[in-house]
Amino acid sequence: MNRIARGSLLGIEHMEAAEIVGLLKLARRMNPFKPRPLLRGKRVLLLFYEASTRTRSSFEIAAKSMGAMTTLVLSSGSSIEKGESLLDTAYTLRAVGADLIVVRHPNAGAPLLMAKHLDIPVVNAGDGMHEHPTQALLDAYTISRHKKSFKGLQVVIVGDIYHSRVARSAIHLLSKFGARITLCGPPEFLPELATSLAPGLHITRSVEEAARKADVIIVLRVQKERLAGMKIKLQDYIARYQMTMTRLKLAKRDALLMHPGPIIRGLELTWEVADCPQSVIVEEVRNGVPVRMAILAKALGRAR
Ligand code: NCD
Repeated sequence: MNRIARGSLLGIEHMEAAEIVGLLKLARRMNPFKPRPLLRGKRVLLLFYEASTRTRSSFEIAAKSMGAMTTLVLSSGSSIEKGESLLDTAYTLRAVGADLIVVRHPNAGAPLLMAKHLDIPVVNAGDGMHEHPTQALLDAYTISRHKKSFKGLQVVIVGDIYHSRVARSAIHLLSKFGARITLCGPPEFLPELATSLAPGLHITRSVEEAARKADVIIVLRVQKERLAGMKIKLQDYIARYQMTMTRLKLAKRDALLMHPGPIIRGLELTWEVADCPQSVIVEEVRNGVPVRMAILAKALGRAR
């Protein structure tokens, strides 16, 4: 087997807890408005095969604010459209001088494949239904700004868990630190098999039961682009699982309402919930910048 390029961040599952703590501490020292030029002279390639707003822009701002040069390559309008393979694209980006590649890809394992064939760090910005490690890190960072400890924290994840790389990475991360995780959704979005993701996971089909006593509720988008062949009626989903103020009020008074975005108001959550005082949705996005600054600095061996 090929070695994985040093500095790569591919997923949370195999990360040591100490490494996660180190990244979160480093993120706390990053000030996006007074950045240190830690990445001066570095070239960061952003390779996106799937749509992205938050992840892409925050990686770009994180890299640029530390003095790196960034280049964006999208699947549309690049030679990927002409049929160039993932590895040939990766070799091309290395050849033009990339020092690090951030990649989002519809197939699970794409960043790992690149990291096995390149000698520069690869950072996973979301691979299919597998992992989204930087989202889990920014969510952990956000939770840590409001809650004393992850240990014993009642975290509920509601919605399209099956298709969600965000859920997978969050489950791996929070369970490493002793959070008590409840997954909630209809069988199409939450097969019983999901309990095998981490020890001690609890599953419920009732959003009311899930919300009761929650410290953190993470609502997920219904991933319409990955629903091919599924017979889920959105009206039924809304009736049973949409996060409403009535349902949110069952949680602890100081519970956090989270969502990785993009949010679809009126589907997985109401307008009111999206903008309520407990919602930290915008804060999650904001925290994406210092967290990704820490990730890039660490990956390129410039963490100080
Ligand atoms: C998520 C993703 O792409 O996995 N978005 C994000 O990066 N914040 C979630 C989603 O698309 O629903």
